This record gives sequence, structure tokens and C-alpha cells, in this order.
Amino acid sequence: MPKCVVGTPDEIAPGQRKIVVPFRGRAGIGVFNVNDCFYALRNLCPHKLGPLCTGAVTGRMVADLPPSAGDEVVTLAQDGEIIRCPWHLWEFEIATGRCLVDHRVRVKTYPVSIEDGQLVVEYDD
Ligand code: FES
Repeated sequence: MPKCVVGTPDEIAPGQRKIVVPFRGRAGIGVFNVNDCFYALRNLCPHKLGPLCTGAVTGRMVADLPPSAGDEVVTLAQDGEIIRCPWHLWEFEIATGRCLVDHRVRVKTYPVSIEDGQLVVEYDD
């Protein structure tokens, strides 16, 4: 598989991302730092092909009770581990590419490694 050098790991702080375009005519790949682990996602939302990796990095809202209970407490789980598409707000787990509302939907992920001090993404064309 072809490889793309993204940069050094310290160029992407925790909670940040860098978008690289190793192939022409495509949206590119977003490389994310989630708690000092690096993940790469295709910058193309599986919903309507929006620029997924330019969206907000966030968490998912979790309630301890159903809304009908009235006293539910809502907390933010997986803070910094979720990417929200800027077009229609679908959310995906950065580490797996899994869509939160429909687990059958995934955004493509790519392997990331550190070689000679550089972040490297392997991609297919
Ligand atoms: S294009 Fe991403 S949610 Fe619609």
C-alpha cells in the first residue's frame, strides 16, 4: 500500500487533526490525535460525501434515564473521541470510523504508524 508522511507527532496536539491529500482529485485523509493515539479517517462522509474531518471533535451525550423520566442527568462521554460532520451532524467514532446512530455505517479508516519519528498513513488509491 502507498504511504504518506503526515509530519511529526508533535504537529498534531491532542484533540487536533491534520488533513493530508496524498492522492489527486480526492478529499484527503484526516489524521487525528485522540489522547496521544493517532487515527486516520477518509475526509468523506458516508452520508452525502461532506468534508467529515473538518467537523467538530466532540463526545457523545449520554443520559442516565430516558427523557420521559424528566429527571435525567446528561453527561458527555468519550469527550474528544467523536467527529461530527459539519453538513448534517452525523457523528462517528474516530478510532473505529463507526457511525454512532447506525453501526452498519462506517467511514473508511487507514493505518497510522510512526516511522523514523514521522507519522505515516498507509492508504489505498
Ligand atoms: S454529509 Fe455528513 S452528515 Fe450528511
